[in-house]
Order: sequence, then C-alpha cells, then structure tokens
Amino acid sequence: MTRLRSSFRRNALPGGALLLALAGCAHAPGGASTAPSAAPGAAAPQPLAADAPAWVELGPAPLVRAILPDGEACPPLSVDDRPQPMARRVGTGTPARRPSSTKAADFPVQVCEATLAPDVRAVRLGGRALPVPAAEPRRIVVLGDTGCRIKGDFTQDCASPDSWPFAQVARTAAALQPDVVIHVGDYHYRETPCPAGHAGCADSPWGYGWDAWSADFFVPARPLLAAAPWIFVRGNHEECARAGQGWFRFLAPEPWTPRRSCDAPADDGEADYTPPYAVPLGATTQLVVFDSAHAGYRKPDLSTPAGAALHAHYVADVRAMDALASPGRRSWFASHHPVLGFAPDDSPGATRPYPGTAALLQAMNEVNGEVYFPPGMQLALHGHVHLFQALSFLDGHPATLVAGNGGDVLDAPLPAPLPPGTTPAPGVRLGDTAFSNGFGFLLMERADDAGRWTVTAFRRDGSELTHCALSADGQLACVPHGALP
Ligand SMILES: [Fe+2]
Repeated sequence: MTRLRSSFRRNALPGGALLLALAGCAHAPGGASTAPSAAPGAAAPQPLAADAPAWVELGPAPLVRAILPDGEACPPLSVDDRPQPMARRVGTGTPARRPSSTKAADFPVQVCEATLAPDVRAVRLGGRALPVPAAEPRRIVVLGDTGCRIKGDFTQDCASPDSWPFAQVARTAAALQPDVVIHVGDYHYRETPCPAGHAGCADSPWGYGWDAWSADFFVPARPLLAAAPWIFVRGNHEECARAGQGWFRFLAPEPWTPRRSCDAPADDGEADYTPPYAVPLGATTQLVVFDSAHAGYRKPDLSTPAGAALHAHYVADVRAMDALASPGRRSWFASHHPVLGFAPDDSPGATRPYPGTAALLQAMNEVNGEVYFPPGMQLALHGHVHLFQALSFLDGHPATLVAGNGGDVLDAPLPAPLPPGTTPAPGVRLGDTAFSNGFGFLLMERADDAGRWTVTAFRRDGSELTHCALSADGQLACVPHGALP
C-alpha cells in the first residue's frame, strides 16, 4: 500500500498571476502568527494545490483554514470579491513525544487562517471556491468516530472500504448537499504501528503527526469538507495525551497558543479543557459545543486532586453552557461523550447497557439537578459510542442522537428490546427509541420555522435506516423504531 501522506501537488491555475497579488500570509518564526500581512522575505502567495486541505469552520466566529507545506505563503483569499489577508495560525514543528507515543509527532505543514464575517456570500481561497455559512441552515449532516483503528493488535483494514468506510460515508453525505456538517469527535485512530501479520494496515502511517491525521481524516473527508462549513467537536482521541497536538493545530476553533497546544504535558490541565461556545444555526436555534475530551469512563473521585480538578472544570463549563442557552432561543447541545445515551455492556451476564457518561452527569447534576440541561435545550448530539441511537424521554429532557458509527470499528449492539426501566441517568424516563450498530450518518432537515426538524439515519451506502420527527419541545419519534438492522 502506498504511504498516504499528501504530496500537495501544485496545480498551475489560469489567472494565478493576478491571484498572487491579492493577499499575504505572515510567517513569524515558529508557532502562531499575529501579523496579518506578508513578512519581509516571505514566499509570494500562490494558488492552492488541488490536494491541499482547505475548509470553512464554524466556531465562536466563522473561519477559513488551509494546510500548506512548509515555506509557502498563505494562499490568496478573496471574500465577497475583495482580498482579505490570512495569517499563519501555526508553523511546522516536531514537538517532543507525548508519554503515550513512542515517537514525536511530526508536523511538516503549516496552517493558515482568517476570520470571516457571518454573512459572507463568497469565499475563494487560492482560486478554489469554498462553501459559506447559510443564514438559515436547512440540511445538517451529523457524523462521528471516523478514523481507522490501529492500536496494538486491534486494527481495521484501512485500505478496505468494507472494513473502514469513512471515505464512502463522506462521499455519500456530501452528495446530500448539506448546509452544515457537525462532526461529533474522534477523528484520529492510527495510534501505534501496524502489527506484523496485519496486512490490512501494513504501511499505514501511525502516531500523532500530520501523516496519520491526513490519512485518517483530511484525505477521506475531502468531498465533505468541500460541501459545507463544518463544526468540529473534540473527542477523547483528541485529548492531550493522544492526538491533541493535531487537534489544536488543525481543527480547534480557538487561537493556537503554546499553552493551548498539548505540546507540553505540564499544560495539559488547561489544554484538556476548552470552554463551551455557541454557533448560530439560523435566527432561532444555536448549537452549544462542549469539550468533553477528558471525561474518561469513570466518575471522578473528588477526594483526589485530579478528580477534583476534572470535576471543577466540568462544573464551570456546565455553568458556561447554561449562560449560553439564553431564553428565547432554542439550543442544541453537542459533546463527544453521551450525557443521556447508552454504551453496550457485552460482558457475560450483563442485561442492561451502561448509562451516560459519569463525569458529565455528575457536573450537570450539581448545576442543574436531574434536569441536567438548561431550559430551552431541544436536542443533544453525541458520538463516542460506535452506534446509532435516537432516544426520546418522557419528562422534558432533550432528545438524544448518537452518531458514532461513521467509520471506526462498531460497538456491540444494544440489548433488544431494552429491558424495562433502562435509563441513562437518575430521574430520566426513556420514551421512544431507535438504534443500530451499522455504519452510517445522520441528516437533519428543517421541517418548518417553528422548531420542527426531521432526522434521517442513513446507512453508509445512502440507503435509509429510519426516519424520525423532532418536535419543537424535544420529542423524537422514529419509523421504524426499536432495534434496526
Ligand atoms: Fe470517543
């Protein structure tokens, strides 16, 4: 198998000479850039190579980003037919290895970025047209947990679409022409060398550097990155001890800083948590994005400094979420780890699935009691569990959608039917459910302007698994429902 590292083949575009004059890119030595114009002696901006990743991202503000080889100036950016400067977000680097890896993460690429106005109408980067934010998004793709598993002896066949279908999922979702894509986290899975005798991952890049990021995410995601602006939720695979360095370089919407880079383990206590932020999804709905990367599997032990610090971070973030969920605006919630969702327990004799993520439930309970969420929360989106789940509740809790079935190894199915009384959290009563352990993704479509949406769960090939109606008050009903093939 050919090594998948991007070559950034340079395409000579007609009119390139004119584009060269449009904008510059700062090249401050090492790390993030603050100057928006070309530094003296910097290379002249050039058209964007056809295989260079470039996308529009929705965070606290919309952004345009591109990944370029070392030494190149940022490509010329045109916004609504006017030149706009880009800045270098972060340069190349090979930070010292993380304790969890046997080699340093090599990033022989730089990242350029620029902030966009929310009402931008046209973006061209290096001659390439990029998607722009929709004022009223009507079609939203949700997917997650997409990389190819290589960890110890637990591997996928990364070269086989049957084993690792993320590229197929991305193509299928792109063909639906979404207005927004929400990735619910876990982009990077190629953590350790492909073991001897595992032909399916032989020659794959591995570790936390650019080559593995490119193969796991940027190459297969290309058609979907070109289709719509993205919202990136951080997964536990992107915590500092794992692929956090790439997360902050490439995807995190916050500014890259040395302290918020995961480069120095001494800063992990800060960099493993980033505050929630809200992204408008039209005039009356917003998505509150919550970083749960470090939530772990167990309830934190508050008698230990580490457990107390983790809990304090999440309590503060829940309070910030509550402040963002302003009255008069419908909110959706997105965190990688499920709050009111299930994880299968396939241990011998187990009859019920695991409930929601203990660390999040503990913090949300402390702030909001057994309501867990602030008023006005209609829907919660998650990944982490490699299944599709659509869950509705009887006492006003927001509906839950889990879309962790985007490409990585699937989890065991949930028990069917779910035993009576099964609940993801104290004080929560389960209503209608639909779930499956096949690969796929979700498409949400605005049904009206009063808060009703439809949710279609697609299989990897674009066939429909189930179709659900989401009411304005967060009730979800799917046809067919229950355990789905
Ligand atoms: Fe995860």
